[in-house]
Amino acid sequence: MARSAKEAELLNIGVLGAGPISQAAHFEGCQKARNARLYAICELAPDLLESAAHTYRPAKIFRRFDAMLADPAVHAVIIAVADQFHVPLSLQALAAGKHVLVEKPMGVSVEEAESLRQAVAAGSLILQVGHNRRFDPGVAFARLFVSQELGRMQSYQGWYYDSTDRYIMTDNLQPLMRLSDSARRPAGDPKNDRQRYLLLTHGSHLLDTARFLGGEIIAVRARYNHSFDAHCWFIEIHFSNGALGHADLTVPLRGDFEEGFRIAGEFGSVRARLPLTWFHRCGDVECYSIKDGLYRRPLGADAFSYKLQIESFADVLLHGKSQLGADVHDGVANIRAMVAVAKSVTNGELLPLASVTGEP
Ligand SMILES: NC(=O)c1ccc[n+]([C@@H]2O[C@H](COP(=O)([O-])OP(=O)(O)OC[C@H]3O[C@@H](n4cnc5c(N)ncnc54)[C@H](O)[C@@H]3O)[C@@H](O)[C@H]2O)c1
Repeated sequence: MARSAKEAELLNIGVLGAGPISQAAHFEGCQKARNARLYAICELAPDLLESAAHTYRPAKIFRRFDAMLADPAVHAVIIAVADQFHVPLSLQALAAGKHVLVEKPMGVSVEEAESLRQAVAAGSLILQVGHNRRFDPGVAFARLFVSQELGRMQSYQGWYYDSTDRYIMTDNLQPLMRLSDSARRPAGDPKNDRQRYLLLTHGSHLLDTARFLGGEIIAVRARYNHSFDAHCWFIEIHFSNGALGHADLTVPLRGDFEEGFRIAGEFGSVRARLPLTWFHRCGDVECYSIKDGLYRRPLGADAFSYKLQIESFADVLLHGKSQLGADVHDGVANIRAMVAVAKSVTNGELLPLASVTGEP
């Protein structure tokens, strides 16, 4: 298919929020998606709305979310605002009859995540959480290998190291970011609580990938070390399939950004090293099978994971395809896992995800 070719049937998407993630990923993701269209942008800050409208030329612009939701031509919304607003605005969108792709983490507390689960269960609308790593073609390949060829899983080891030089790299990889003093932010600047914020923002990727590949997590025990300006979590993971699990999160590492995982199984193994997501390069993923004694490694030329997650979301809605993206149950489980990690750090206990309440 030619570059940027559009299919006949397109999902009309309204993007809420013209902040950094929309400018770096969602606006272009909608424009480049083969089966979606950037129909509307909604942003409270007038300067951001104006510059986004000028650059991306949606059919409609809105300052108020309820006005965008009232437009019958909007089939689905992408909610790309601060974490604290995710659940209330997702509930509002569902109540207005719109499908939702909400940024990760799905919310900030177990209770609000459960309320969203109830709302999704009560209706027939789709909710997907923006765990875009699932759409790295290398990660998707690993998932297929795990389900079809690995056999029983013995161990899963995952890691996520943010880099001290991350912003030097992203400044070059992302468009020049437009910011606004009028942007709506949650009260009290939650980003100031670094331990909590970093666990939510980076740990959500680490734990979603662990669950995507390793299966359901039933309990975790975690240790935490805060030295100089770096935060480090070592997480012991108990999977429901009995595999031994470990994940570590270090933010920031004096070194290159890296996400990755190693999996050992009955009939093979997987090793993966993922680049900073903004390079839009396929992870370096190799799957070894004892059947043929070969390592297999995908090229994954199209690795714009933010676009691929939109395409998959649209395929679910337009063609009834199965949902590869994280659903509301994944969103809840990931929040439970992060809350359990945060609480375990304080008491050293192995905490079942089912037992935790509150926020990380
Ligand atoms: N998947 C990823 O890799 C990834 C990467 C970066 C950020 N994120 C997530 O994306 C989300 C947004 O991040 P950001 O840095 O763009 O946030 P931001 O807070 O800087 O920007 C959000 C924008 O939404 C607008 N907004 C908020 N509430 C609104 C409302 N009710 N109506 C209209 N406009 C509203 C704000 O004015 C602001 O301009 C966060 O949850 C973050 O965790 C995900």
